[in-house]
Amino acid sequence: MSERRRQRVAVVGGGVIGMSTAWRLASEGHPVTMIDPEPASGASRVAGGMLAPVAEAWPGEESLLELGAVSLGRWPEFAARLSRESGRSSGLNREGTLVVGVDSADRAELDNLAEYLASRGRSVSRHSGRSLRRAEPSLGPAVRAGLEVPEDLSVDNRVTLEALRAAAVAAGVEFVDARARAVGPGRVELDESTVRCEFVVIAAGSHAGELHSGLRETIRPVKGEILRLRARGTALPPPRRTIRGPVHGRQVYLVPRENGLVVGATQYEVGFDTEVTVGGVRTLLADAERFVPGIAEYALTESSAGLRPSTEDNLPLIGWVEPGVLVAAGHHRNGFLLAPITAETVVGLVHGSAVADEAKAADPARLGEQQ
Ligand code: GLY
Repeated sequence: MSERRRQRVAVVGGGVIGMSTAWRLASEGHPVTMIDPEPASGASRVAGGMLAPVAEAWPGEESLLELGAVSLGRWPEFAARLSRESGRSSGLNREGTLVVGVDSADRAELDNLAEYLASRGRSVSRHSGRSLRRAEPSLGPAVRAGLEVPEDLSVDNRVTLEALRAAAVAAGVEFVDARARAVGPGRVELDESTVRCEFVVIAAGSHAGELHSGLRETIRPVKGEILRLRARGTALPPPRRTIRGPVHGRQVYLVPRENGLVVGATQYEVGFDTEVTVGGVRTLLADAERFVPGIAEYALTESSAGLRPSTEDNLPLIGWVEPGVLVAAGHHRNGFLLAPITAETVVGLVHGSAVADEAKAADPARLGEQQ
Protein backbone atom coordinates (compact mmCIF):
# COMPACT_ATOMS: atom_id res chain seq x y z
CA MET A 1 0.00 0.00 0.00
CA SER A 2 1.32 3.48 -0.89
CA GLU A 3 2.30 5.96 1.87
CA ARG A 4 -0.53 8.22 0.79
CA ARG A 5 -3.10 5.53 1.58
CA ARG A 6 -1.84 5.18 5.14
CA GLN A 7 -2.35 8.86 5.96
CA ARG A 8 -4.58 9.47 8.96
CA VAL A 9 -7.89 11.23 8.33
CA ALA A 10 -10.32 12.73 10.88
CA VAL A 11 -13.94 13.07 9.74
CA VAL A 12 -16.02 15.55 11.74
CA GLY A 13 -19.71 14.67 11.60
CA GLY A 14 -21.38 11.26 11.66
CA GLY A 15 -24.37 11.77 9.35
CA VAL A 16 -24.76 9.99 6.03
CA ILE A 17 -22.02 12.10 4.40
CA GLY A 18 -19.48 11.74 7.20
CA MET A 19 -20.21 8.06 7.69
CA SER A 20 -20.01 7.24 3.96
CA THR A 21 -16.77 9.18 3.62
CA ALA A 22 -15.19 7.62 6.70
CA TRP A 23 -16.14 4.13 5.54
CA ARG A 24 -14.79 4.59 2.02
CA LEU A 25 -11.53 6.14 3.26
CA ALA A 26 -11.02 3.32 5.77
CA SER A 27 -11.78 0.71 3.08
CA GLU A 28 -9.01 2.32 1.02
CA GLY A 29 -6.56 1.68 3.87
CA HIS A 30 -6.55 5.00 5.74
CA PRO A 31 -6.65 5.06 9.53
CA VAL A 32 -9.85 7.09 10.11
CA THR A 33 -11.23 8.77 13.23
CA MET A 34 -14.90 9.75 13.19
CA ILE A 35 -15.73 12.60 15.59
CA ASP A 36 -19.37 13.11 16.59
CA PRO A 37 -21.02 13.21 20.02
CA GLU A 38 -23.99 11.22 18.66
CA PRO A 39 -23.47 9.75 15.18
CA ALA A 40 -26.51 9.25 12.92
CA SER A 41 -28.76 11.37 15.13
CA GLY A 42 -29.26 14.59 13.10
CA ALA A 43 -30.83 15.37 9.72
CA SER A 44 -29.79 11.98 8.28
CA ARG A 45 -31.90 10.17 10.87
CA VAL A 46 -34.94 12.35 10.15
CA ALA A 47 -34.59 12.22 6.33
CA GLY A 48 -37.12 10.76 3.91
CA GLY A 49 -34.42 8.97 1.91
CA MET A 50 -35.48 9.94 -1.62
CA LEU A 51 -32.85 9.45 -4.33
CA ALA A 52 -34.71 11.69 -6.74
CA PRO A 53 -32.60 14.04 -8.86
CA VAL A 54 -35.06 13.90 -11.76
CA ALA A 55 -38.35 14.27 -9.87
CA GLU A 56 -36.85 17.12 -7.81
CA ALA A 57 -35.15 18.85 -10.76
CA TRP A 58 -35.58 22.60 -10.92
CA PRO A 59 -34.79 25.06 -13.74
CA GLY A 60 -31.55 26.89 -12.98
CA GLU A 61 -30.17 23.92 -10.98
CA GLU A 62 -28.67 22.03 -13.92
CA SER A 63 -25.37 21.29 -12.15
CA LEU A 64 -27.28 19.78 -9.24
CA LEU A 65 -29.34 17.61 -11.61
CA GLU A 66 -26.18 16.32 -13.31
CA LEU A 67 -24.39 15.72 -10.00
CA GLY A 68 -27.45 13.95 -8.58
CA ALA A 69 -27.85 11.81 -11.69
CA VAL A 70 -24.20 10.71 -11.53
CA SER A 71 -24.51 9.87 -7.83
CA LEU A 72 -27.77 7.97 -8.41
CA GLY A 73 -25.91 5.93 -11.03
CA ARG A 74 -23.32 5.03 -8.36
CA TRP A 75 -25.98 3.86 -5.87
CA PRO A 76 -26.43 0.21 -6.97
CA GLU A 77 -22.68 -0.48 -6.68
CA PHE A 78 -22.41 1.56 -3.46
CA ALA A 79 -25.35 -0.39 -1.96
CA ALA A 80 -23.94 -3.77 -3.02
CA ARG A 81 -20.57 -2.94 -1.46
CA LEU A 82 -22.26 -1.61 1.66
CA SER A 83 -24.21 -4.86 2.10
CA ARG A 84 -21.10 -6.92 1.50
CA GLU A 85 -18.90 -5.01 3.92
CA SER A 86 -21.53 -4.48 6.64
CA GLY A 87 -23.29 -7.85 6.42
CA ARG A 88 -26.60 -5.91 6.47
CA SER A 89 -29.24 -4.60 4.13
CA SER A 90 -28.22 -1.34 2.45
CA GLY A 91 -31.81 -0.08 2.65
CA LEU A 92 -31.99 0.54 -1.13
CA ASN A 93 -35.50 0.32 -2.63
CA ARG A 94 -35.37 -0.07 -6.42
CA GLU A 95 -39.00 0.85 -7.06
CA GLY A 96 -39.22 4.14 -8.92
CA THR A 97 -41.04 7.42 -8.34
CA LEU A 98 -44.36 8.89 -9.49
CA VAL A 99 -44.82 12.66 -9.60
CA VAL A 100 -48.55 13.29 -9.32
CA GLY A 101 -50.90 16.26 -9.21
CA VAL A 102 -54.49 16.88 -8.15
CA ASP A 103 -55.71 20.09 -9.80
CA SER A 104 -55.17 21.92 -13.08
CA ALA A 105 -52.45 24.19 -11.62
CA ASP A 106 -50.61 21.08 -10.38
CA ARG A 107 -50.99 19.54 -13.82
CA ALA A 108 -49.44 22.62 -15.38
CA GLU A 109 -46.54 22.23 -12.94
CA LEU A 110 -46.08 18.60 -14.04
CA ASP A 111 -46.13 19.71 -17.69
CA ASN A 112 -43.45 22.30 -16.92
CA LEU A 113 -41.31 19.66 -15.20
CA ALA A 114 -41.72 17.23 -18.13
CA GLU A 115 -40.78 19.95 -20.63
CA TYR A 116 -37.79 21.04 -18.57
CA LEU A 117 -36.56 17.44 -18.27
CA ALA A 118 -37.00 16.92 -22.02
CA SER A 119 -34.88 20.04 -22.61
CA ARG A 120 -32.17 18.38 -20.48
CA GLY A 121 -32.40 15.16 -22.52
CA ARG A 122 -34.41 13.24 -19.91
CA SER A 123 -37.79 12.03 -20.98
CA VAL A 124 -40.47 10.96 -18.52
CA SER A 125 -43.73 9.23 -19.39
CA ARG A 126 -47.05 10.96 -18.67
CA HIS A 127 -50.01 9.03 -17.26
CA SER A 128 -53.66 9.60 -16.47
CA GLY A 129 -54.97 9.20 -12.93
CA ARG A 130 -56.59 5.92 -13.94
CA SER A 131 -53.37 4.40 -15.24
CA LEU A 132 -51.50 5.59 -12.13
CA ARG A 133 -54.09 3.86 -9.93
CA ARG A 134 -53.57 0.63 -11.87
CA ALA A 135 -49.87 0.81 -10.94
CA GLU A 136 -50.48 2.01 -7.38
CA PRO A 137 -54.00 1.08 -6.17
CA SER A 138 -53.62 3.15 -2.98
CA LEU A 139 -53.68 6.42 -4.98
CA GLY A 140 -56.97 8.27 -4.45
CA PRO A 141 -59.49 9.68 -6.96
CA ALA A 142 -58.14 13.23 -6.50
CA VAL A 143 -54.96 12.24 -8.39
CA ARG A 144 -55.63 13.35 -11.97
CA ALA A 145 -52.31 13.00 -13.74
CA GLY A 146 -48.70 12.11 -13.20
CA LEU A 147 -45.24 11.40 -14.49
CA GLU A 148 -43.38 8.13 -14.08
CA VAL A 149 -39.70 8.42 -13.14
CA PRO A 150 -38.52 4.80 -12.80
CA GLU A 151 -34.86 5.74 -12.28
CA ASP A 152 -35.49 7.84 -9.14
CA LEU A 153 -35.21 5.45 -6.18
CA SER A 154 -35.24 5.66 -2.37
CA VAL A 155 -33.56 4.24 0.71
CA ASP A 156 -34.77 3.45 4.20
CA ASN A 157 -32.45 6.04 5.74
CA ARG A 158 -32.22 4.36 9.15
CA VAL A 159 -31.39 0.96 7.66
CA THR A 160 -28.72 2.64 5.50
CA LEU A 161 -27.23 4.48 8.48
CA GLU A 162 -26.98 1.23 10.48
CA ALA A 163 -25.26 -0.46 7.54
CA LEU A 164 -22.86 2.47 7.13
CA ARG A 165 -21.91 2.39 10.79
CA ALA A 166 -21.37 -1.40 10.68
CA ALA A 167 -19.28 -1.09 7.48
CA ALA A 168 -17.24 1.74 9.01
CA VAL A 169 -16.57 -0.32 12.16
CA ALA A 170 -15.63 -3.36 10.04
CA ALA A 171 -13.23 -1.20 8.00
CA GLY A 172 -11.53 -0.04 11.22
CA VAL A 173 -12.99 3.47 11.73
CA GLU A 174 -12.41 4.65 15.31
CA PHE A 175 -15.38 6.56 16.79
CA VAL A 176 -14.73 9.45 19.17
CA ASP A 177 -17.98 10.57 20.86
CA ALA A 178 -17.07 14.22 21.32
CA ARG A 179 -18.00 17.61 19.92
CA ALA A 180 -15.45 19.31 17.68
CA ARG A 181 -14.92 23.00 18.46
CA ALA A 182 -12.60 23.99 15.62
CA VAL A 183 -10.65 22.52 12.75
CA GLY A 184 -7.27 23.46 11.27
CA PRO A 185 -4.66 21.76 9.09
CA GLY A 186 -3.72 18.49 10.76
CA ARG A 187 -5.92 18.93 13.82
CA VAL A 188 -9.42 18.87 15.28
CA GLU A 189 -9.88 20.71 18.59
CA LEU A 190 -12.22 18.97 21.03
CA ASP A 191 -13.29 20.38 24.44
CA GLU A 192 -10.35 18.87 26.30
CA SER A 193 -8.06 17.37 23.71
CA THR A 194 -6.86 17.56 20.11
CA VAL A 195 -7.08 14.88 17.42
CA ARG A 196 -4.02 14.99 15.13
CA CYS A 197 -4.14 13.76 11.56
CA GLU A 198 -2.90 14.46 8.03
CA PHE A 199 -6.32 15.40 6.65
CA VAL A 200 -9.57 16.64 8.18
CA VAL A 201 -12.95 16.28 6.47
CA ILE A 202 -15.61 18.68 7.78
CA ALA A 203 -18.90 16.82 7.29
CA ALA A 204 -20.89 18.51 10.04
CA GLY A 205 -23.98 19.49 8.01
CA SER A 206 -25.60 22.74 9.19
CA HIS A 207 -22.84 23.17 11.80
CA ALA A 208 -19.96 23.04 9.31
CA GLY A 209 -19.66 26.83 9.18
CA GLU A 210 -18.93 26.98 12.93
CA LEU A 211 -15.78 24.89 12.59
CA HIS A 212 -13.65 26.85 10.15
CA SER A 213 -13.49 30.55 9.32
CA GLY A 214 -13.37 29.73 5.59
CA LEU A 215 -16.89 28.26 5.83
CA ARG A 216 -18.54 30.97 7.91
CA GLU A 217 -22.03 31.85 6.62
CA THR A 218 -21.78 29.44 3.70
CA ILE A 219 -24.32 26.94 5.05
CA ARG A 220 -27.65 27.76 6.70
CA PRO A 221 -30.18 25.40 8.33
CA VAL A 222 -33.50 24.88 6.51
CA LYS A 223 -35.98 23.15 8.79
CA GLY A 224 -38.03 20.21 7.54
CA GLU A 225 -40.81 18.49 9.50
CA ILE A 226 -41.56 14.89 8.59
CA LEU A 227 -43.91 12.12 9.72
CA ARG A 228 -43.63 8.35 9.96
CA LEU A 229 -46.78 6.25 9.47
CA ARG A 230 -47.42 2.51 9.90
CA ALA A 231 -50.13 0.60 8.00
CA ARG A 232 -52.46 -1.08 10.52
CA GLY A 233 -54.08 -4.48 10.03
CA THR A 234 -57.13 -3.54 7.95
CA ALA A 235 -55.64 -0.58 6.07
CA LEU A 236 -54.72 -0.63 2.37
CA PRO A 237 -50.99 -1.37 1.96
CA PRO A 238 -48.77 1.62 1.17
CA PRO A 239 -47.62 2.38 -2.39
CA ARG A 240 -44.45 0.58 -3.51
CA ARG A 241 -43.05 3.62 -5.30
CA THR A 242 -42.25 7.04 -3.92
CA ILE A 243 -45.16 9.40 -4.59
CA ARG A 244 -44.40 13.10 -4.71
CA GLY A 245 -45.84 16.23 -6.19
CA PRO A 246 -47.68 19.46 -5.59
CA VAL A 247 -50.97 19.67 -3.72
CA HIS A 248 -52.42 23.09 -4.51
CA GLY A 249 -48.88 24.37 -5.01
CA ARG A 250 -47.30 22.79 -1.88
CA GLN A 251 -44.83 19.94 -2.33
CA VAL A 252 -45.38 16.70 -0.45
CA TYR A 253 -43.75 13.28 -0.72
CA LEU A 254 -44.59 9.80 0.53
CA VAL A 255 -41.62 7.45 0.64
CA PRO A 256 -42.32 3.74 1.19
CA ARG A 257 -41.02 1.87 4.19
CA GLU A 258 -41.51 -1.72 5.32
CA ASN A 259 -45.28 -1.65 6.03
CA GLY A 260 -45.49 2.12 6.16
CA LEU A 261 -44.60 5.52 4.79
CA VAL A 262 -42.53 8.58 5.51
CA VAL A 263 -44.42 11.80 4.72
CA GLY A 264 -42.49 15.01 4.22
CA ALA A 265 -41.63 17.69 4.39
CA THR A 266 -42.18 21.28 5.39
CA GLN A 267 -39.50 23.83 4.55
CA TYR A 268 -38.82 26.90 6.72
CA GLU A 269 -35.84 29.06 7.56
CA VAL A 270 -36.06 29.48 11.35
CA GLY A 271 -32.49 28.99 12.53
CA PHE A 272 -31.69 25.86 14.51
CA ASP A 273 -35.27 25.22 15.72
CA THR A 274 -36.20 21.51 15.53
CA GLU A 275 -39.58 21.56 17.29
CA VAL A 276 -42.47 20.03 15.37
CA THR A 277 -45.44 22.37 14.95
CA VAL A 278 -49.15 21.54 14.89
CA GLY A 279 -49.50 23.41 11.60
CA GLY A 280 -46.69 21.39 10.01
CA VAL A 281 -48.25 18.05 10.98
CA ARG A 282 -51.74 19.16 9.90
CA THR A 283 -50.56 20.32 6.47
CA LEU A 284 -48.46 17.23 5.79
CA LEU A 285 -51.29 14.85 6.74
CA ALA A 286 -53.92 16.76 4.73
CA ASP A 287 -51.70 16.91 1.63
CA ALA A 288 -50.59 13.27 1.89
CA GLU A 289 -54.23 12.18 2.26
CA ARG A 290 -55.09 13.83 -1.06
CA PHE A 291 -52.67 11.41 -2.75
CA VAL A 292 -53.26 8.31 -0.58
CA PRO A 293 -56.58 8.58 1.31
CA GLY A 294 -56.02 5.22 3.02
CA ILE A 295 -53.44 6.74 5.36
CA ALA A 296 -56.37 7.87 7.53
CA GLU A 297 -56.32 4.30 8.86
CA TYR A 298 -52.57 4.28 9.50
CA ALA A 299 -50.88 4.84 12.86
CA LEU A 300 -48.91 8.07 13.19
CA THR A 301 -45.78 6.70 14.85
CA GLU A 302 -43.40 9.66 14.74
CA SER A 303 -43.16 13.34 13.96
CA SER A 304 -39.73 14.91 13.83
CA ALA A 305 -37.82 17.78 12.30
CA GLY A 306 -34.35 18.02 10.79
CA LEU A 307 -32.14 20.78 9.51
CA ARG A 308 -31.15 20.65 5.84
CA PRO A 309 -27.68 22.13 5.44
CA SER A 310 -28.26 24.53 2.56
CA THR A 311 -25.98 26.71 0.47
CA GLU A 312 -26.76 29.76 -1.65
CA ASP A 313 -26.96 27.74 -4.90
CA ASN A 314 -28.26 24.47 -3.35
CA LEU A 315 -25.11 22.64 -4.49
CA PRO A 316 -23.01 21.01 -1.76
CA LEU A 317 -19.50 22.06 -0.83
CA ILE A 318 -17.08 19.22 -1.63
CA GLY A 319 -13.41 20.15 -1.81
CA TRP A 320 -10.47 21.89 -0.19
CA VAL A 321 -10.98 24.69 2.33
CA GLU A 322 -7.22 24.98 2.79
CA PRO A 323 -4.36 22.46 2.44
CA GLY A 324 -5.11 19.51 4.72
CA VAL A 325 -8.76 20.54 5.33
CA LEU A 326 -11.63 19.32 3.17
CA VAL A 327 -15.33 20.10 3.42
CA ALA A 328 -18.14 17.70 2.49
CA ALA A 329 -21.27 19.50 3.64
CA GLY A 330 -24.17 21.66 2.44
CA HIS A 331 -26.09 18.81 0.77
CA HIS A 332 -29.46 20.57 1.27
CA ARG A 333 -32.26 18.09 0.32
CA ASN A 334 -29.86 15.52 -1.10
CA GLY A 335 -27.61 13.96 1.54
CA PHE A 336 -28.49 10.33 0.82
CA LEU A 337 -28.60 10.86 -2.95
CA LEU A 338 -25.18 12.50 -3.02
CA ALA A 339 -23.42 10.23 -0.50
CA PRO A 340 -21.73 7.96 -3.11
CA ILE A 341 -20.33 10.77 -5.28
CA THR A 342 -19.31 12.78 -2.19
CA ALA A 343 -17.36 9.90 -0.65
CA GLU A 344 -15.78 9.08 -4.00
CA THR A 345 -14.76 12.72 -4.53
CA VAL A 346 -13.22 13.07 -1.07
CA VAL A 347 -11.23 9.84 -1.55
CA GLY A 348 -10.06 11.15 -4.95
CA LEU A 349 -8.98 14.49 -3.48
CA VAL A 350 -7.10 12.84 -0.60
CA HIS A 351 -5.32 10.56 -3.08
CA GLY A 352 -4.64 13.39 -5.51
CA SER A 353 -6.47 11.52 -8.28
CA ALA A 354 -9.07 12.76 -10.77
CA VAL A 355 -12.62 13.46 -9.61
CA ALA A 356 -15.79 13.20 -11.72
CA ASP A 357 -16.38 16.29 -13.89
CA GLU A 358 -19.86 16.75 -12.41
CA ALA A 359 -18.37 17.01 -8.89
CA LYS A 360 -16.27 20.02 -9.88
CA ALA A 361 -19.41 22.19 -9.66
CA ALA A 362 -19.39 21.49 -5.90
CA ASP A 363 -15.88 22.88 -5.38
CA PRO A 364 -16.05 25.44 -2.52
CA ALA A 365 -13.66 27.64 -4.53
CA ARG A 366 -16.81 28.91 -6.31
CA LEU A 367 -17.78 30.79 -3.14
CA GLY A 368 -14.88 33.22 -3.58
CA GLU A 369 -15.72 33.64 -7.27
CA GLN A 370 -19.38 34.53 -6.51
CA GLN A 371 -18.46 37.39 -4.14
N1 GLY B 1 -35.02 15.27 0.53
C1 GLY B 1 -36.26 15.76 0.89
C2 GLY B 1 -36.28 16.86 1.84
O1 GLY B 1 -35.28 17.49 2.11
O2 GLY B 1 -37.32 17.13 2.36
